[in-house]
Amino acid sequence: MLDFSSSVNKILTTKYIGRPFIYMDTTESTQDEVARYGLSGASEGLAVGAGYQSRGRGRLDREWLSTKGASILVSVLLRPEEHHVSHIVIMAALALESFVKELDENVPVRIKWPNDILIEGKKVAGILVERIPANNTSDKDVVVLGMGVNLNLDTSKISEISSISTSLYNFTGKQFDLINGYGTLFKNLEIYYEHLKTGTDLLSQWRQKLITLGRTVKITDGEEEFIGFAENVDETGSLIVRRKDGTKFNVIAGDAHLLS
Ligand code: BTN
Repeated sequence: MLDFSSSVNKILTTKYIGRPFIYMDTTESTQDEVARYGLSGASEGLAVGAGYQSRGRGRLDREWLSTKGASILVSVLLRPEEHHVSHIVIMAALALESFVKELDENVPVRIKWPNDILIEGKKVAGILVERIPANNTSDKDVVVLGMGVNLNLDTSKISEISSISTSLYNFTGKQFDLINGYGTLFKNLEIYYEHLKTGTDLLSQWRQKLITLGRTVKITDGEEEFIGFAENVDETGSLIVRRKDGTKFNVIAGDAHLLS
């Protein structure tokens, strides 16, 4: 029987995303694995997937939970041009939305600012973009794009996340093939990354799809917490929120909880 990485390799249709694809049954976090490869000179597209992460992490120092072999847990090495770095998260959100639709067109998948992929208000996938500064073995910063997709994870059995997370299995009642999942995700990622590189206006596509705009939101941004109206996003992807007193606030890296 082929091992997991060879099986993914066999069905890959991409030119460089997921090439090579390294699969580990268990690791602390695929983010750290890819950062190491990146700093030692690996080329763009290298991806590390894991069956289980003992210290999977999300944005804002949160944990990213999984059970063995139930989710896509993957990090991809990117070497974007400087002016594309702030749009990597936008590109990945569009790729993930398209990926979920390709797996099942009847799933009502939505994007919530900045990086949450939701089904009926619950998170099915998340994106973590980390920039690793150059060191003495690498003269350029590296970008590690991490994605967690709850494919067959039964979130209803995990009390810490059951009220806020879902999975494709939980929504459809179907089991999804992980190998095909990786292949399809890499394909969508390469399509959208190529769009980014060739100057397609991904910001407008993302803006149109965001369920956050035009809604009242509760913002939690470090020490700040306030309620306002989510008006727009700026060219870097920050959320522009108008407070009750009319002043505007640009939220760069917080959470926007939908109130209406
Ligand atoms: C978020 O929504 O906060 C981002 C979640 C990102 C999780 C993925 S799973 C693969 C990669 N390795 C990690 O430790 N995190 C990312």
